[in-house]
Amino acid sequence: MSEQIQIPEPATTRKAWKETDVGSVFVSNYPPYSFWRDENTARIKAMLHTSDPADKDIPLGLYMHIPFCRKRCKFCYFRVYTGRNSSEIQTYLDALGKEVETYSTLPRIAGRKLHFIYFGGGTPSYISVKHLRALVARVKTAMPWDDAEEVAFECEPGTLSQSKVEAIREIGVTRLSLGLENLNDDILRENGRAHVSKEIYAVMPWVKAQQFPQVNVDLIAGMVGETRETWRDTVQRTIDLDADSVTIYQMELPFNTTYSQAIRGGNGVPVADWETKREWHNYAIEQFAAAGYETSSAYTLTKKGRPNKFIYRDALWRSADLIGTGVASFSHAGGMHFQNQTHWDPYLKAAGQGQLPINRSFVPTEEERLVREMILQLKLGRIETAYFQNKFGVDILKRFGETYRELRDAEMLSFDSQSITLSRQGLLRVDQLLPEFYHKKYRNSRYT
Ligand SMILES: C[S@@+](CC[C@H](N)C(=O)[O-])C[C@H]1O[C@@H](n2cnc3c(N)ncnc32)[C@H](O)[C@@H]1O
Ligand code: SF4
Repeated sequence: MSEQIQIPEPATTRKAWKETDVGSVFVSNYPPYSFWRDENTARIKAMLHTSDPADKDIPLGLYMHIPFCRKRCKFCYFRVYTGRNSSEIQTYLDALGKEVETYSTLPRIAGRKLHFIYFGGGTPSYISVKHLRALVARVKTAMPWDDAEEVAFECEPGTLSQSKVEAIREIGVTRLSLGLENLNDDILRENGRAHVSKEIYAVMPWVKAQQFPQVNVDLIAGMVGETRETWRDTVQRTIDLDADSVTIYQMELPFNTTYSQAIRGGNGVPVADWETKREWHNYAIEQFAAAGYETSSAYTLTKKGRPNKFIYRDALWRSADLIGTGVASFSHAGGMHFQNQTHWDPYLKAAGQGQLPINRSFVPTEEERLVREMILQLKLGRIETAYFQNKFGVDILKRFGETYRELRDAEMLSFDSQSITLSRQGLLRVDQLLPEFYHKKYRNSRYT
């Protein structure tokens, strides 16, 4: 799996990236996925078949990947399928249910309480209420989640109806996330979104009426066709929607998006450069701050006085255990990382037969675990040195002192003996700073 192709990507290469080149990504793990291999599968399976009393102190989450969408957005890099009919969806959900049942019997997992649940995609809200209720009933029988602290669920606005929003609330969802991306219809259409703003305005009252403990909306700064004026208008309209939290991504162009393929085929796609995206992102942060929102990570702002926790993110960035089910999903358990089969047929075959559908994995060293947690937590904007001293016995300001001093001199962050705090400029480009902390063998290479 994953031949090492030597195309340096921004996620592994520390330099001042100017244009939004193909290959940019959001850093979500370490070491880079291109270094994960299939040789370790037997080790992963052995680990899952052994219990460890220390696990009782490690929070456990369940991720379910629902890979269906109405249309493939031209910027999207997730494993998604369009045009699947109800019986194909049923087949997939059967395999997913079976996979959760398989996990629930493994010594490493059996009897452990679920702390958080995440329905991600693709578009979990694409599936019918009937499919959703049946999936939840089956999964909860295998792994109950009534005591979970968070049940998060991603939605594309145009897939929702009032009754579906009610059903999503009834299954226990506590954090509903809506992919708005933009409020300008021309931009939404140009970027291949299946919805326009009318659908966003239709769903908001249904969502409000259900009183979800937390409602998040996603925006992307730098969609094709965006101008300073359209972005300002989108920011104002999003403030007016009064969500509890807003997540703002800067447009990335990983290799597998429709836009990336067009660019590599010689057809230019006008995506704003990094400086422009940072300027727009910064503008949004300031406007949201003036409207009562505070920064909770490089991407997320939460409204003061409203629920501001995002348990899934915080648990993952502190190396909680996560069972990632569904095609191409990522898991972490027993200190090891692994990913499921990335294509429909091999995934369905293995999961449907009650086998673990694992494709590739990585067993990190203690040093790699430390780097992983440190770079992911830097995305929160502030880290405490004591956390790393207690967990890894390492003074990170000594171990990475030179890098921290360089970043401080470049005004990306400041630190004292207790904490490290990113500046606004540092936060706005955090993904491009992180490769500085990678071991040199993981730099200047492919990330995915
Ligand atoms: C799985 S989608 C959310 C749910 C649903 N599929 C949707 O799009 O409405 C996760 C989010 O990733 C973000 N995203 C996807 N592709 C992106 C890209 N190329 N650059 C930046 N953000 C991206 C979008 O904000 C999107 O809402
Ligand atoms: S951004 Fe969301 S709706 Fe668009 S293709 Fe990706 S997962 Fe589907």
